[in-house]
Amino acid sequence: MFRTVSIIAFLVTFAGIGICCLVLPRCRQCGWTPSAILKRAIHIFTMLLLEQKAGAVGIIRKLAYLLALVCFVVLAVTSFFPVLVLKESINGYWLMLHATFAPVFAIALTALVILWAGSYHFNSRTEAGKYELPQKICFWLIVSLALPMVLSIILSMFTFFGTEGQEFLLNTHRYCALLLSLVAIIYTYLIIRNHMERQ
Ligand code: HEM
Repeated sequence: MFRTVSIIAFLVTFAGIGICCLVLPRCRQCGWTPSAILKRAIHIFTMLLLEQKAGAVGIIRKLAYLLALVCFVVLAVTSFFPVLVLKESINGYWLMLHATFAPVFAIALTALVILWAGSYHFNSRTEAGKYELPQKICFWLIVSLALPMVLSIILSMFTFFGTEGQEFLLNTHRYCALLLSLVAIIYTYLIIRNHMERQ
């Protein structure tokens, strides 16, 4: 069940982003020739680099974002690859890598919230761009989903939840992780869009 729901959810999300790319004017102007796509890919890569003009706080904010992003990618791959591709539950080295990056992710996400909450305040106007509001909604959705996702797996480590309780907690972790992954994909797309709109 979780595997089927995950496959459909990821396909719908990527199809939605693909359609946005095809229909929204900004993307159409950029064109779809190999050179235009390469130019966009390089542009997106440069967004990951630290800007000198950012200052110390700006660099720490960007590093917190990059650390959370790297940990998220490792956690998503170590969990969804066995489930979606190998058709098995997370185990062995996948689980070891997952459990290793999990605390780093939790710390990086906490730092991210502390350092970025001000910019994502709904009353604050930043020059984020045309899709500022959906980007802010995604940010707070990620934060809201991370809490039950992390709490559920930590609670499942205690023995006083019976078999059904353990199953419920694992499913809570799985589906919160799935939703968080979908929102994180849309959030990253909106960051790229807003950045391109500003160029
Ligand atoms: C602090 C953060 C996290 C901790 C402590 C954690 C821990 C765990 C553990 C221990 C399991 C194995 C549970 C079991 O089989 O009994 C697990 C499974 C899973 N985790 Fe995480 N995880 C974290 C973050 C994430 C994130 C960010 C994602 C997604 C991007 C994720 C996705 C999953 C999925 C999909 C499974 C289920 C795999 C399956 O069905 O076998 N986890 N997690």
